[in-house]
Amino acid sequence: MRQPLSAGNWKMHGSQSSVKTLLAGIRAGLAEVRVAEVAVCPPFPYLGMVQRELSGTSVAWGAQNLSTETMGAFTGEVAASMLLDFGCKYVIVGHSERRTLYGEDDVVVARKFAVARAAGLIPILCIGETLEERERGITRDVVARQVDAIISLEGAVALADAVIAYEPVWAIGTGVTATPEQAQEVHAYIRKRVAEHDVDVADNLRILYGGSMKPDNAAELLAKRDIDGGLIGGASLKAEDFLAICRAANA
Ligand code: 13P
Repeated sequence: MRQPLSAGNWKMHGSQSSVKTLLAGIRAGLAEVRVAEVAVCPPFPYLGMVQRELSGTSVAWGAQNLSTETMGAFTGEVAASMLLDFGCKYVIVGHSERRTLYGEDDVVVARKFAVARAAGLIPILCIGETLEERERGITRDVVARQVDAIISLEGAVALADAVIAYEPVWAIGTGVTATPEQAQEVHAYIRKRVAEHDVDVADNLRILYGGSMKPDNAAELLAKRDIDGGLIGGASLKAEDFLAICRAANA
């Protein structure tokens, strides 16, 4: 049985006061979240506050990025060991915003994935096609390439305990959500691709959907067989909306 995961990716949003309010709101509504594991991924500067406010609760937390290096003269970078020092369980790697805006290619993403795992963090690997790629009919090729980059570096065993987030780029922040059928089709394909290497790893792999997931579309997405939770951007910034998405896994 795969436990659903609802993870909030706050991206570059927040202030000390808004983070405090958001965390208090999440804490207050946790009792009604019965099935999903809940996690939040704040910007780096708020990790300490998140650790203080969420320690002892059922909510896990993680970062949105990490360095490929472990320590040293790398100005502006943040190492996996530092994330562990702040109690992180998860780290997002390969988000499409990092791939497109910061030039992270499959090689860099695979390296970050490996560094995270080696440190004992659970990477949430983001993959997904652009609108142009979908229209050209190469969605499967794109996600296969992105998954294979991880498998070829470390084998399918690297995906044991890891999390994949399928985030069609055209659905991110646009208000356009993949239909449950469109998402299920790609999720099933991703699982099949991993199963070609290792059936057990594929069966246990949590594959989240991300891209304009909201309280009003979460339940039907989560009802699909291969959709094991969500990576939620905009809607994770409001406790009420985020909790409603987390509760959608109760059904
Ligand atoms: P939105 O939920 O704002 O579309 O963002 C999705 C996302 O990119 C999560 O990583």
